[in-house]
Amino acid sequence: MVSPVSLMVAILVVTAAAAVTHDYKDALMKSIMFYEGQRSGKLPPNQRITWRADSALKDGFDSHVDLVGGYYDAGDNIKFHFPMAFTTTMLAWSVIEFGDTMYTELPHALEAIKWATDYLLLATNTPDVVYVQVGDPWADHNCWERPEDMDTPRTSVSVTKEYPGSEVSAEIAAALAASSIVFRKSLPEYSNWLINRAQQVFYFADTYRGSYNNSRAGHFVCPFYCDYSGYQDELLWGAAWLHRATQKPYYLNYVLSNVYKMGRPWNIGEFGWDTKDAGISVLLSEYLFFSKLDWKPFVTYADEFVCSVIPGSSNPSVIYTPGGLIQKPKMNSLQIASSLSFLFVVYARNLKLANRVVQCDHGAVDPSRLIDLAKSQVDYILGNNPMKTSYMVDYGQQFPRRIHHRGSSSPSIKVHKEHIKCKEGTTYYASQGPNPNLLTGAVVGGPDAHDWFADDRTNPGQSEPTTYINAPLVGLLAYFSANQ
Ligand SMILES: *[C@@H]1O[C@H](CO)[C@@H](O)[C@H](O)[C@H]1NC(C)=O
Repeated sequence: MVSPVSLMVAILVVTAAAAVTHDYKDALMKSIMFYEGQRSGKLPPNQRITWRADSALKDGFDSHVDLVGGYYDAGDNIKFHFPMAFTTTMLAWSVIEFGDTMYTELPHALEAIKWATDYLLLATNTPDVVYVQVGDPWADHNCWERPEDMDTPRTSVSVTKEYPGSEVSAEIAAALAASSIVFRKSLPEYSNWLINRAQQVFYFADTYRGSYNNSRAGHFVCPFYCDYSGYQDELLWGAAWLHRATQKPYYLNYVLSNVYKMGRPWNIGEFGWDTKDAGISVLLSEYLFFSKLDWKPFVTYADEFVCSVIPGSSNPSVIYTPGGLIQKPKMNSLQIASSLSFLFVVYARNLKLANRVVQCDHGAVDPSRLIDLAKSQVDYILGNNPMKTSYMVDYGQQFPRRIHHRGSSSPSIKVHKEHIKCKEGTTYYASQGPNPNLLTGAVVGGPDAHDWFADDRTNPGQSEPTTYINAPLVGLLAYFSANQ
Protein backbone atom coordinates (compact mmCIF):
# COMPACT_ATOMS: atom_id res chain seq x y z
CA MET A 1 0.00 0.00 0.00
CA VAL A 2 1.20 3.51 -0.73
CA SER A 3 1.35 5.52 2.48
CA PRO A 4 -0.11 9.02 2.39
CA VAL A 5 3.33 10.42 3.23
CA SER A 6 5.13 8.78 0.31
CA LEU A 7 2.25 9.74 -1.94
CA MET A 8 2.70 13.36 -0.87
CA VAL A 9 6.42 13.13 -1.49
CA ALA A 10 5.75 11.76 -4.94
CA ILE A 11 3.36 14.60 -5.72
CA LEU A 12 5.89 17.15 -4.47
CA VAL A 13 8.60 15.63 -6.65
CA VAL A 14 6.39 15.72 -9.72
CA THR A 15 5.34 19.35 -9.17
CA ALA A 16 8.90 20.44 -8.43
CA ALA A 17 10.13 18.76 -11.60
CA ALA A 18 7.33 20.32 -13.65
CA ALA A 19 8.62 23.78 -12.77
CA VAL A 20 11.80 23.34 -14.82
CA THR A 21 11.61 24.99 -18.20
CA HIS A 22 13.70 23.79 -21.05
CA ASP A 23 15.90 25.23 -23.71
CA TYR A 24 14.12 23.55 -26.63
CA LYS A 25 16.25 25.41 -29.14
CA ASP A 26 19.44 24.02 -27.67
CA ALA A 27 17.91 20.53 -27.57
CA LEU A 28 16.77 20.90 -31.19
CA MET A 29 20.25 21.85 -32.34
CA LYS A 30 21.71 18.84 -30.52
CA SER A 31 19.02 16.39 -31.65
CA ILE A 32 20.03 17.08 -35.26
CA MET A 33 23.77 17.12 -34.59
CA PHE A 34 23.45 13.55 -33.33
CA TYR A 35 23.01 12.36 -36.92
CA GLU A 36 26.52 13.51 -37.77
CA GLY A 37 27.82 11.05 -35.19
CA GLN A 38 25.93 8.22 -36.91
CA ARG A 39 27.28 8.93 -40.37
CA SER A 40 28.86 6.15 -42.38
CA GLY A 41 31.09 6.77 -45.39
CA LYS A 42 33.25 9.75 -46.31
CA LEU A 43 32.71 12.62 -43.89
CA PRO A 44 32.53 16.18 -45.23
CA PRO A 45 34.81 19.03 -44.07
CA ASN A 46 31.98 20.69 -42.11
CA GLN A 47 31.46 17.59 -39.91
CA ARG A 48 30.70 18.89 -36.40
CA ILE A 49 31.12 15.68 -34.41
CA THR A 50 34.86 15.66 -34.91
CA TRP A 51 35.87 12.53 -33.01
CA ARG A 52 34.40 10.55 -35.92
CA ALA A 53 36.27 9.87 -39.19
CA ASP A 54 35.63 8.13 -42.53
CA SER A 55 34.41 4.54 -42.32
CA ALA A 56 33.02 1.72 -44.47
CA LEU A 57 34.37 3.21 -47.71
CA LYS A 58 33.97 -0.05 -49.62
CA ASP A 59 30.37 -0.82 -48.73
CA GLY A 60 28.55 -2.42 -51.65
CA PHE A 61 31.77 -3.50 -53.39
CA ASP A 62 30.96 -7.17 -52.69
CA SER A 63 27.93 -6.70 -54.99
CA HIS A 64 29.78 -4.39 -57.41
CA VAL A 65 27.64 -1.41 -56.41
CA ASP A 66 28.32 1.77 -54.47
CA LEU A 67 26.68 1.70 -51.05
CA VAL A 68 29.01 4.14 -49.30
CA GLY A 69 27.22 6.52 -46.93
CA GLY A 70 24.02 6.37 -44.90
CA TYR A 71 23.67 5.97 -41.15
CA TYR A 72 24.52 3.38 -38.55
CA ASP A 73 21.23 2.69 -36.82
CA ALA A 74 22.33 2.75 -33.19
CA GLY A 75 25.35 1.78 -31.10
CA ASP A 76 26.67 -0.75 -33.61
CA ASN A 77 28.03 -0.42 -37.14
CA ILE A 78 25.33 -1.98 -39.28
CA LYS A 79 23.31 -0.10 -41.85
CA PHE A 80 19.79 -1.50 -41.49
CA HIS A 81 17.78 0.16 -44.24
CA PHE A 82 14.31 -0.55 -42.81
CA PRO A 83 14.75 1.60 -39.67
CA MET A 84 17.03 3.99 -41.62
CA ALA A 85 14.21 4.67 -44.07
CA PHE A 86 11.68 5.15 -41.26
CA THR A 87 14.09 7.59 -39.60
CA THR A 88 14.28 9.50 -42.88
CA THR A 89 10.49 9.60 -43.27
CA MET A 90 10.18 11.01 -39.75
CA LEU A 91 12.91 13.60 -40.24
CA ALA A 92 11.16 14.68 -43.43
CA TRP A 93 7.77 14.78 -41.71
CA SER A 94 9.38 16.87 -38.94
CA VAL A 95 10.51 19.42 -41.51
CA ILE A 96 7.22 19.36 -43.43
CA GLU A 97 5.21 20.11 -40.28
CA PHE A 98 7.62 22.13 -38.17
CA GLY A 99 10.39 23.34 -40.48
CA ASP A 100 9.05 26.89 -40.33
CA THR A 101 10.16 27.11 -36.69
CA MET A 102 13.56 25.47 -37.13
CA TYR A 103 15.19 28.77 -38.20
CA THR A 104 18.99 28.41 -38.13
CA GLU A 105 18.63 24.64 -37.61
CA LEU A 106 16.68 24.11 -40.82
CA PRO A 107 19.78 23.78 -43.04
CA HIS A 108 21.17 21.18 -40.64
CA ALA A 109 17.89 19.24 -40.69
CA LEU A 110 17.96 19.25 -44.49
CA GLU A 111 21.54 18.05 -44.44
CA ALA A 112 20.57 15.19 -42.11
CA ILE A 113 17.79 14.15 -44.50
CA LYS A 114 19.96 14.44 -47.59
CA TRP A 115 22.64 12.27 -46.03
CA ALA A 116 19.99 9.55 -45.92
CA THR A 117 18.29 10.19 -49.27
CA ASP A 118 21.60 10.29 -51.18
CA TYR A 119 22.20 6.86 -49.75
CA LEU A 120 18.69 5.50 -50.34
CA LEU A 121 19.05 6.56 -53.98
CA LEU A 122 22.17 4.38 -54.16
CA ALA A 123 20.37 1.49 -52.48
CA THR A 124 17.64 1.62 -55.14
CA ASN A 125 19.80 2.44 -58.15
CA THR A 126 19.40 -0.96 -59.86
CA PRO A 127 15.88 -1.54 -61.24
CA ASP A 128 13.97 -4.27 -59.39
CA VAL A 129 16.66 -4.59 -56.74
CA VAL A 130 16.55 -2.91 -53.34
CA TYR A 131 19.52 -3.17 -51.02
CA VAL A 132 18.16 -3.63 -47.52
CA GLN A 133 21.24 -3.83 -45.34
CA VAL A 134 25.02 -3.59 -45.28
CA GLY A 135 27.05 -5.44 -42.67
CA ASP A 136 26.80 -8.80 -40.96
CA PRO A 137 25.12 -8.13 -37.61
CA TRP A 138 26.17 -11.50 -36.18
CA ALA A 139 29.85 -10.71 -36.70
CA ASP A 140 29.46 -7.04 -35.83
CA HIS A 141 27.70 -7.67 -32.53
CA ASN A 142 30.44 -10.08 -31.58
CA CYS A 143 32.95 -7.20 -31.62
CA TRP A 144 33.26 -3.84 -29.88
CA GLU A 145 34.93 -1.87 -32.63
CA ARG A 146 34.94 1.71 -33.79
CA PRO A 147 33.33 2.12 -37.23
CA GLU A 148 36.66 3.46 -38.46
CA ASP A 149 38.32 0.13 -37.56
CA MET A 150 35.69 -2.27 -38.79
CA ASP A 151 37.06 -5.52 -40.20
CA THR A 152 33.92 -7.66 -39.98
CA PRO A 153 32.20 -8.69 -43.25
CA ARG A 154 30.38 -5.82 -44.92
CA THR A 155 27.89 -8.09 -46.60
CA SER A 156 25.37 -6.24 -48.76
CA VAL A 157 21.92 -7.81 -48.72
CA SER A 158 19.19 -7.19 -51.30
CA VAL A 159 15.61 -8.05 -52.13
CA THR A 160 14.47 -8.78 -55.69
CA LYS A 161 11.41 -9.97 -57.61
CA GLU A 162 12.16 -13.55 -56.59
CA TYR A 163 13.13 -12.68 -53.01
CA PRO A 164 10.82 -9.76 -52.19
CA GLY A 165 10.79 -7.36 -49.27
CA SER A 166 7.69 -5.18 -49.43
CA GLU A 167 8.04 -3.57 -45.97
CA VAL A 168 11.55 -2.28 -46.49
CA SER A 169 10.92 -1.25 -50.10
CA ALA A 170 7.68 0.56 -49.28
CA GLU A 171 9.29 2.32 -46.33
CA ILE A 172 12.10 3.50 -48.60
CA ALA A 173 9.43 4.74 -51.04
CA ALA A 174 7.76 6.63 -48.15
CA ALA A 175 11.11 8.18 -47.17
CA LEU A 176 11.90 9.30 -50.71
CA ALA A 177 8.38 10.67 -51.25
CA ALA A 178 8.32 12.62 -47.97
CA SER A 179 11.81 13.97 -48.63
CA SER A 180 10.83 15.09 -52.13
CA ILE A 181 8.38 17.50 -50.47
CA VAL A 182 11.15 18.83 -48.24
CA PHE A 183 13.48 19.61 -51.16
CA ARG A 184 10.85 20.87 -53.59
CA LYS A 185 11.82 24.53 -53.25
CA SER A 186 15.51 24.38 -52.45
CA LEU A 187 16.55 21.55 -54.82
CA PRO A 188 13.77 21.07 -57.40
CA GLU A 189 15.69 18.68 -59.65
CA TYR A 190 16.79 16.56 -56.76
CA SER A 191 13.20 16.56 -55.50
CA ASN A 192 11.99 15.24 -58.87
CA TRP A 193 14.60 12.56 -58.79
CA LEU A 194 13.37 11.49 -55.34
CA ILE A 195 9.72 11.38 -56.32
CA ASN A 196 10.38 9.41 -59.49
CA ARG A 197 12.45 6.88 -57.61
CA ALA A 198 9.84 6.69 -54.86
CA GLN A 199 7.20 5.70 -57.41
CA GLN A 200 9.40 3.05 -59.00
CA VAL A 201 10.31 1.54 -55.65
CA PHE A 202 6.70 1.57 -54.50
CA TYR A 203 5.66 -0.25 -57.67
CA PHE A 204 8.33 -2.86 -56.98
CA ALA A 205 7.21 -3.22 -53.33
CA ASP A 206 3.55 -3.61 -54.30
CA THR A 207 4.00 -5.87 -57.33
CA TYR A 208 6.34 -8.42 -55.74
CA ARG A 209 4.79 -8.87 -52.36
CA GLY A 210 6.40 -10.57 -49.43
CA SER A 211 8.28 -9.89 -46.20
CA TYR A 212 12.07 -9.68 -46.19
CA ASN A 213 11.89 -11.88 -43.10
CA ASN A 214 11.03 -14.79 -45.26
CA SER A 215 13.35 -14.15 -48.15
CA ARG A 216 17.11 -14.66 -48.19
CA ALA A 217 17.54 -11.43 -46.18
CA GLY A 218 15.95 -13.10 -43.15
CA HIS A 219 19.19 -14.42 -41.68
CA PHE A 220 20.64 -10.89 -41.65
CA VAL A 221 17.65 -8.81 -40.60
CA CYS A 222 16.11 -11.10 -37.98
CA PRO A 223 15.87 -10.86 -35.05
CA PHE A 224 17.37 -7.35 -35.25
CA TYR A 225 14.82 -5.61 -37.46
CA CYS A 226 12.47 -8.43 -38.26
CA ASP A 227 9.20 -7.20 -39.67
CA TYR A 228 6.88 -8.35 -36.89
CA SER A 229 3.69 -6.61 -37.96
CA GLY A 230 3.63 -7.48 -41.66
CA TYR A 231 4.29 -5.37 -44.76
CA GLN A 232 0.71 -4.26 -45.42
CA ASP A 233 1.04 -1.17 -43.23
CA GLU A 234 4.15 -0.03 -45.11
CA LEU A 235 2.32 -0.38 -48.43
CA LEU A 236 -0.47 1.89 -47.18
CA TRP A 237 2.01 4.29 -45.57
CA GLY A 238 4.11 4.44 -48.73
CA ALA A 239 1.02 5.11 -50.84
CA ALA A 240 -0.18 7.78 -48.39
CA TRP A 241 3.16 9.59 -48.66
CA LEU A 242 3.16 9.22 -52.43
CA HIS A 243 -0.28 10.78 -52.49
CA ARG A 244 0.93 13.64 -50.33
CA ALA A 245 3.91 14.19 -52.61
CA THR A 246 2.26 13.75 -56.03
CA GLN A 247 -1.45 14.41 -55.32
CA LYS A 248 -2.17 11.58 -57.77
CA PRO A 249 -5.63 10.07 -57.11
CA TYR A 250 -4.17 6.63 -57.82
CA TYR A 251 -2.32 6.60 -54.49
CA LEU A 252 -5.28 7.82 -52.46
CA ASN A 253 -7.51 5.20 -54.08
CA TYR A 254 -4.86 2.62 -53.33
CA VAL A 255 -4.98 3.43 -49.62
CA LEU A 256 -8.76 3.72 -49.42
CA SER A 257 -9.41 0.48 -51.27
CA ASN A 258 -6.62 -1.60 -49.73
CA VAL A 259 -7.19 -0.69 -46.11
CA TYR A 260 -10.09 -3.13 -45.92
CA LYS A 261 -8.20 -5.86 -47.74
CA MET A 262 -5.19 -5.96 -45.53
CA GLY A 263 -5.98 -9.24 -43.89
CA ARG A 264 -4.55 -8.06 -40.61
CA PRO A 265 -6.14 -6.15 -37.72
CA TRP A 266 -5.58 -2.39 -37.60
CA ASN A 267 -3.14 -1.52 -34.81
CA ILE A 268 -4.89 1.60 -33.53
CA GLY A 269 -2.24 2.72 -31.05
CA GLU A 270 0.99 1.60 -32.72
CA PHE A 271 3.57 3.75 -34.44
CA GLY A 272 7.27 3.05 -34.85
CA TRP A 273 9.82 1.56 -37.23
CA ASP A 274 7.86 -1.71 -37.44
CA THR A 275 4.22 -0.60 -37.33
CA LYS A 276 2.90 2.46 -39.11
CA ASP A 277 -0.85 2.27 -38.42
CA ALA A 278 -1.39 5.30 -36.17
CA GLY A 279 0.87 7.36 -38.42
CA ILE A 280 -1.18 6.43 -41.48
CA SER A 281 -4.40 7.49 -39.70
CA VAL A 282 -3.00 10.87 -38.67
CA LEU A 283 -1.32 11.54 -42.01
CA LEU A 284 -4.49 10.79 -43.96
CA SER A 285 -6.78 12.68 -41.57
CA GLU A 286 -4.78 15.75 -42.41
CA TYR A 287 -5.97 15.38 -46.00
CA LEU A 288 -9.45 14.03 -45.32
CA PHE A 289 -10.49 16.83 -42.92
CA PHE A 290 -10.34 19.29 -45.78
CA SER A 291 -11.67 17.06 -48.53
CA LYS A 292 -15.22 16.14 -49.47
CA LEU A 293 -14.40 12.43 -49.19
CA ASP A 294 -15.73 10.08 -46.57
CA TRP A 295 -13.58 10.43 -43.44
CA LYS A 296 -13.95 6.75 -42.62
CA PRO A 297 -12.07 4.81 -41.58
CA PHE A 298 -8.96 6.94 -41.07
CA VAL A 299 -10.39 9.78 -38.98
CA THR A 300 -12.17 7.19 -36.85
CA TYR A 301 -8.87 5.37 -36.42
CA ALA A 302 -7.05 8.59 -35.53
CA ASP A 303 -9.73 9.47 -32.97
CA GLU A 304 -9.56 5.98 -31.50
CA PHE A 305 -5.78 6.36 -31.32
CA VAL A 306 -6.22 9.52 -29.25
CA CYS A 307 -8.78 7.87 -26.98
CA SER A 308 -6.46 4.92 -26.40
CA VAL A 309 -3.48 7.00 -25.24
CA ILE A 310 -5.11 9.68 -23.09
CA PRO A 311 -4.76 8.97 -19.34
CA GLY A 312 -7.87 7.23 -18.04
CA SER A 313 -8.62 5.53 -21.34
CA SER A 314 -11.19 2.75 -21.15
CA ASN A 315 -9.27 0.87 -23.83
CA PRO A 316 -5.64 1.84 -23.27
CA SER A 317 -2.91 1.15 -25.83
CA VAL A 318 -0.18 2.52 -23.55
CA ILE A 319 0.82 2.54 -19.90
CA TYR A 320 2.08 5.49 -17.89
CA THR A 321 5.04 5.23 -15.56
CA PRO A 322 4.55 6.79 -12.10
CA GLY A 323 6.60 9.74 -13.40
CA GLY A 324 4.22 10.21 -16.33
CA LEU A 325 6.14 8.67 -19.24
CA ILE A 326 4.20 6.88 -21.96
CA GLN A 327 5.35 3.32 -22.58
CA LYS A 328 4.08 0.08 -24.04
CA PRO A 329 4.02 -2.98 -21.80
CA LYS A 330 7.42 -4.76 -22.04
CA MET A 331 8.73 -2.18 -24.52
CA ASN A 332 10.38 0.50 -22.47
CA SER A 333 12.02 2.65 -25.07
CA LEU A 334 11.68 6.39 -25.46
CA GLN A 335 10.83 5.63 -29.07
CA ILE A 336 7.22 5.16 -27.98
CA ALA A 337 6.98 8.52 -26.22
CA SER A 338 8.74 10.39 -29.01
CA SER A 339 6.86 8.89 -31.97
CA LEU A 340 3.42 9.02 -30.32
CA SER A 341 3.98 12.58 -29.09
CA PHE A 342 4.83 13.60 -32.63
CA LEU A 343 1.44 12.32 -33.75
CA PHE A 344 -0.31 14.12 -30.86
CA VAL A 345 1.00 17.48 -31.99
CA VAL A 346 0.33 16.91 -35.69
CA TYR A 347 -3.18 15.67 -35.00
CA ALA A 348 -3.86 18.45 -32.49
CA ARG A 349 -2.93 21.08 -35.05
CA ASN A 350 -5.19 19.48 -37.64
CA LEU A 351 -8.06 19.20 -35.17
CA LYS A 352 -7.68 22.86 -34.39
CA LEU A 353 -7.76 23.81 -38.07
CA ALA A 354 -10.79 21.58 -38.60
CA ASN A 355 -12.38 23.03 -35.46
CA ARG A 356 -12.92 19.58 -33.91
CA VAL A 357 -12.49 17.83 -30.60
CA VAL A 358 -12.20 14.06 -30.19
CA GLN A 359 -15.14 12.38 -28.47
CA CYS A 360 -13.94 9.50 -26.31
CA ASP A 361 -15.95 7.22 -23.98
CA HIS A 362 -14.42 9.00 -21.04
CA GLY A 363 -15.07 12.53 -22.31
CA ALA A 364 -14.03 14.96 -25.00
CA VAL A 365 -10.36 15.56 -25.74
CA ASP A 366 -9.52 18.95 -27.15
CA PRO A 367 -6.35 19.73 -29.09
CA SER A 368 -4.69 21.59 -26.23
CA ARG A 369 -4.83 18.46 -24.10
CA LEU A 370 -2.92 16.55 -26.75
CA ILE A 371 -0.31 19.30 -26.99
CA ASP A 372 0.11 19.33 -23.19
CA LEU A 373 0.52 15.57 -23.20
CA ALA A 374 3.22 15.77 -25.88
CA LYS A 375 4.97 18.55 -23.97
CA SER A 376 4.98 16.47 -20.79
CA GLN A 377 6.72 13.67 -22.71
CA VAL A 378 9.34 15.97 -24.22
CA ASP A 379 9.97 17.59 -20.82
CA TYR A 380 10.30 14.18 -19.23
CA ILE A 381 12.95 13.25 -21.80
CA LEU A 382 14.81 16.50 -21.19
CA GLY A 383 14.95 16.08 -17.42
CA ASN A 384 11.58 16.47 -15.67
CA ASN A 385 11.56 12.92 -14.35
CA PRO A 386 12.08 11.07 -11.08
CA MET A 387 15.75 10.30 -11.94
CA LYS A 388 16.26 14.02 -12.56
CA THR A 389 18.32 13.22 -15.61
CA SER A 390 18.12 14.35 -19.16
CA TYR A 391 17.96 11.40 -21.55
CA MET A 392 19.70 13.42 -24.26
CA VAL A 393 23.47 13.25 -24.23
CA ASP A 394 25.13 16.63 -23.68
CA TYR A 395 21.86 18.37 -22.76
CA GLY A 396 21.28 19.59 -19.18
CA GLN A 397 23.35 19.10 -16.04
CA GLN A 398 22.92 15.35 -15.78
CA PHE A 399 22.74 13.04 -18.77
CA PRO A 400 23.77 9.46 -19.68
CA ARG A 401 27.55 9.10 -19.67
CA ARG A 402 27.95 5.40 -20.45
CA ILE A 403 25.84 4.97 -23.54
CA HIS A 404 25.92 1.68 -25.41
CA HIS A 405 27.72 2.98 -28.47
CA ARG A 406 30.93 1.60 -29.91
CA GLY A 407 32.33 4.85 -31.27
CA SER A 408 31.39 7.00 -28.30
CA SER A 409 32.82 4.57 -25.73
CA SER A 410 36.16 3.87 -27.47
CA PRO A 411 38.98 6.37 -27.82
CA SER A 412 38.64 8.50 -30.94
CA ILE A 413 40.64 7.44 -33.97
CA LYS A 414 42.00 11.00 -33.93
CA VAL A 415 43.57 10.36 -30.52
CA HIS A 416 44.33 6.66 -30.66
CA LYS A 417 45.38 6.00 -34.24
CA GLU A 418 46.31 2.33 -33.85
CA HIS A 419 43.76 -0.22 -35.01
CA ILE A 420 41.67 -1.64 -32.16
CA LYS A 421 40.70 -5.21 -33.00
CA CYS A 422 37.36 -6.91 -32.45
CA LYS A 423 37.90 -8.23 -28.93
CA GLU A 424 40.36 -5.55 -27.87
CA GLY A 425 37.42 -3.19 -27.58
CA THR A 426 36.00 -5.24 -24.69
CA THR A 427 38.06 -3.09 -22.28
CA TYR A 428 36.10 -0.04 -23.36
CA TYR A 429 32.80 -1.89 -23.34
CA ALA A 430 33.35 -3.11 -19.77
CA SER A 431 34.91 0.07 -18.40
CA GLN A 432 33.09 1.74 -15.49
CA GLY A 433 34.22 5.15 -16.66
CA PRO A 434 32.25 7.64 -18.75
CA ASN A 435 32.48 7.45 -22.53
CA PRO A 436 35.40 9.54 -23.81
CA ASN A 437 33.45 10.96 -26.78
CA LEU A 438 30.17 12.83 -26.40
CA LEU A 439 27.58 11.74 -28.93
CA THR A 440 25.86 15.10 -28.63
CA GLY A 441 22.08 14.98 -28.95
CA ALA A 442 21.71 11.20 -28.79
CA VAL A 443 18.55 10.17 -26.95
CA VAL A 444 18.92 6.77 -25.31
CA GLY A 445 16.45 3.89 -24.86
CA GLY A 446 15.50 5.33 -21.48
CA PRO A 447 13.98 4.25 -18.17
CA ASP A 448 11.95 1.19 -17.26
CA ALA A 449 8.29 1.06 -16.22
CA HIS A 450 9.26 2.37 -12.75
CA ASP A 451 11.16 5.38 -14.15
CA TRP A 452 14.41 3.68 -13.18
CA PHE A 453 17.42 4.19 -15.40
CA ALA A 454 20.83 2.57 -15.10
CA ASP A 455 23.54 4.57 -16.83
CA ASP A 456 25.13 1.31 -17.86
CA ARG A 457 26.76 0.50 -21.19
CA THR A 458 26.02 -3.21 -20.80
CA ASN A 459 22.27 -2.51 -20.66
CA PRO A 460 21.53 -1.59 -24.29
CA GLY A 461 17.75 -1.53 -23.76
CA GLN A 462 18.27 1.55 -21.60
CA SER A 463 21.54 3.07 -22.73
CA GLU A 464 21.58 2.64 -26.51
CA PRO A 465 20.56 5.54 -28.74
CA THR A 466 18.89 4.95 -32.10
CA THR A 467 18.25 7.19 -35.09
CA TYR A 468 14.49 6.63 -34.88
CA ILE A 469 14.14 7.79 -31.27
CA ASN A 470 15.58 11.16 -32.28
CA ALA A 471 13.77 11.70 -35.58
CA PRO A 472 10.27 12.58 -34.24
CA LEU A 473 11.88 14.64 -31.47
CA VAL A 474 13.46 16.89 -34.07
CA GLY A 475 9.95 17.97 -35.09
CA LEU A 476 8.66 18.19 -31.53
CA LEU A 477 11.57 20.33 -30.37
CA ALA A 478 11.08 22.67 -33.32
CA TYR A 479 7.42 23.00 -32.35
CA PHE A 480 8.01 23.61 -28.63
CA SER A 481 10.89 26.01 -29.22
CA ALA A 482 8.33 28.31 -30.86
CA ASN A 483 5.28 27.38 -28.73
CA GLN A 484 6.33 27.23 -25.09
C1 LIG B 1 8.87 -12.05 -39.27
O1 LIG B 1 9.50 -12.88 -38.32
C2 LIG B 1 9.04 -12.77 -37.00
C3 LIG B 1 9.92 -13.58 -36.10
O2 LIG B 1 10.09 -14.87 -36.57
C4 LIG B 1 7.56 -13.17 -36.95
O3 LIG B 1 7.08 -12.96 -35.64
C5 LIG B 1 6.78 -12.32 -37.94
O4 LIG B 1 5.46 -12.75 -38.01
C6 LIG B 1 7.39 -12.38 -39.34
N1 LIG B 1 6.71 -11.41 -40.16
C7 LIG B 1 6.19 -11.72 -41.37
C8 LIG B 1 5.54 -10.61 -42.09
O5 LIG B 1 6.25 -12.81 -41.84
